[in-house]
Amino acid sequence: MLYRNILSGLWFGLSVSAAPTTSARSVDSLLPLSTKGRDILDSNGDVFHFKATNWPGHQEAMIPEGLQHASIEQIVSWFPKFGLNSVRLCFAIEMVDDILSNNTNQTLEKSILNALGEANGTIVLDQILEKNPQFTKSTTRLEIWDAVAQELTKQNVIIHLDNHVSKAFWCCGENDGNGWFGEKYFDVEKWKRGLAWMAEHAKQNWPTFSSIGLRNELRNAQNAEPVDWYTWYVHMTAAAEAVHEANQDALVFFSGLSYDTYIDPIPLGKTLNGTSGTATEGKTAVFNPDDFAWKDKIVLEIHKYDFEATQDNCDTFKSKWYSKGFQALDASNPQTKHLFPLVLSEWGFIQNGTYWKQTTYNNCTIEMVEDWQVSWMHWELSGSFYLQTRPNRTPNTIQGLEEFWGLVNYDWSAVRSPITVENSLNKMIAALDA
Ligand SMILES: *[C@@H]1O[C@H](CO)[C@@H](O)[C@H](O)[C@H]1NC(C)=O
Ligand SMILES: *[C@@H]1O[C@H](CO)[C@@H](O)[C@H](O)[C@H]1NC(C)=O
Ligand SMILES: *[C@@H]1O[C@H](CO)[C@@H](O)[C@H](O)[C@H]1NC(C)=O
Ligand SMILES: *[C@@H]1O[C@H](CO)[C@@H](O)[C@H](O)[C@H]1NC(C)=O
Ligand SMILES: *[C@@H]1O[C@H](CO)[C@@H](O)[C@H](O)[C@H]1NC(C)=O
Ligand SMILES: *[C@@H]1O[C@H](CO)[C@@H](O)[C@H](O)[C@H]1NC(C)=O
Repeated sequence: MLYRNILSGLWFGLSVSAAPTTSARSVDSLLPLSTKGRDILDSNGDVFHFKATNWPGHQEAMIPEGLQHASIEQIVSWFPKFGLNSVRLCFAIEMVDDILSNNTNQTLEKSILNALGEANGTIVLDQILEKNPQFTKSTTRLEIWDAVAQELTKQNVIIHLDNHVSKAFWCCGENDGNGWFGEKYFDVEKWKRGLAWMAEHAKQNWPTFSSIGLRNELRNAQNAEPVDWYTWYVHMTAAAEAVHEANQDALVFFSGLSYDTYIDPIPLGKTLNGTSGTATEGKTAVFNPDDFAWKDKIVLEIHKYDFEATQDNCDTFKSKWYSKGFQALDASNPQTKHLFPLVLSEWGFIQNGTYWKQTTYNNCTIEMVEDWQVSWMHWELSGSFYLQTRPNRTPNTIQGLEEFWGLVNYDWSAVRSPITVENSLNKMIAALDA
């Protein structure tokens, strides 16, 4: 509590060039993480909670956002300043495909110029090099990711990698090519290869790497494999196997269906069915953790945004949400077949100073976290993007787009909305520290 109060008092006078907060105990001594029943445990056997925000690096340029506005050291320093212990770093499989094909477009220069065009790209490239003079035009994307991971380690931030997309652009839209196994950009073999490659690379090079999310927000798609739990089972367990083979220490996060809004069939041990009239007709599977060498590495993840029933009272809000997967945490529920840790790997809303109190979402989400002691990962840190492409928006692509949901402002120099942070992020931290 004291720590938090000191922090919130500091925000207004905080200079981003201040020395990073150092903590007495290095977090890599907490790794590797494992699971037991409904809990994530650190290497000492104590319950561990992720308190994270998302830092996207999965859009066209395929490097973490914000480097034209601040140094990596300055950006990473936001984590301890906000009282966060971890990051959900989002990456694209396309980045790994490029590494493995020795694609010549992987330099910082080509990455930025290909994404932003010659004229604007040259300007942004110069800004990145000015803020981050350790890089040159020929520094590769992977070298930038390694520098980010090194700084996260230095500032004691645990790294959770999230495979956000296959083709690098903003996630997620229905039928955008990235949504379901076998869709236009979602090559299953390249996906498994990319996950295993990142898990192995992180094991060798990123001391505070803890875990990886197999796929963000699986969703309906028309031109893809059948959208059903059987298909989910086949590919998700194969991907987990590939990750575990590459890195036996990593926790493996399993997301659910419909933009990762529900995953209850897994803790309930339901039969996972195929779809009649398709290649999976009549096929079934059951997800039983005892079948897997990685049974003590399984974490379920779920997302929650404020897109419907925004004035539900908290009892209604919580009971509707419970049924989507919180059974995983509930040993007292006779329907629960398997306990798993559940992580709220995306939540958030516009940081505009009033939204936090306009609906019941903020209060009820805090209550849910307090009731069930779930790790969480806020969406998101970025104050703006290099560019963002959304297929269903005009214009499709906007350069330098401001992210009004971001914790920091447009140029990543200050907290966007201190009152919002005080009433949401800080209370989410308190809900786990109480
Ligand atoms: C990429 O380069 C490596 C190292 O030079 C080489 O072993 C590999 O065969 C190359 N891969 C392709 C697809 O060209
Ligand atoms: C590199 O990028 C250029 C420009 O976008 C593109 O024309 C070319 O095909 C790319 N090369 C590879 C190997 O992907
Ligand atoms: C280039 O940057 C300018 C100024 O930020 C912006 O108005 C313009 O739309 C950008 N060009 C493209 C192709 O997005
Ligand atoms: C699969 O089908 C069985 C039999 O109809 C049903 O009981 C079960 O709930 C279904 N599984 C899911 C995840 O819907
Ligand atoms: C914040 O956003 C919400 C939702 O868009 C809007 O209703 C509200 O007026 C905004 N508040 C401010 C201060 O702009
Ligand atoms: C949220 O909780 C606070 C403190 O318990 C309360 O004062 C406030 O009225 C609640 N707001 C909403 C929108 O429910």
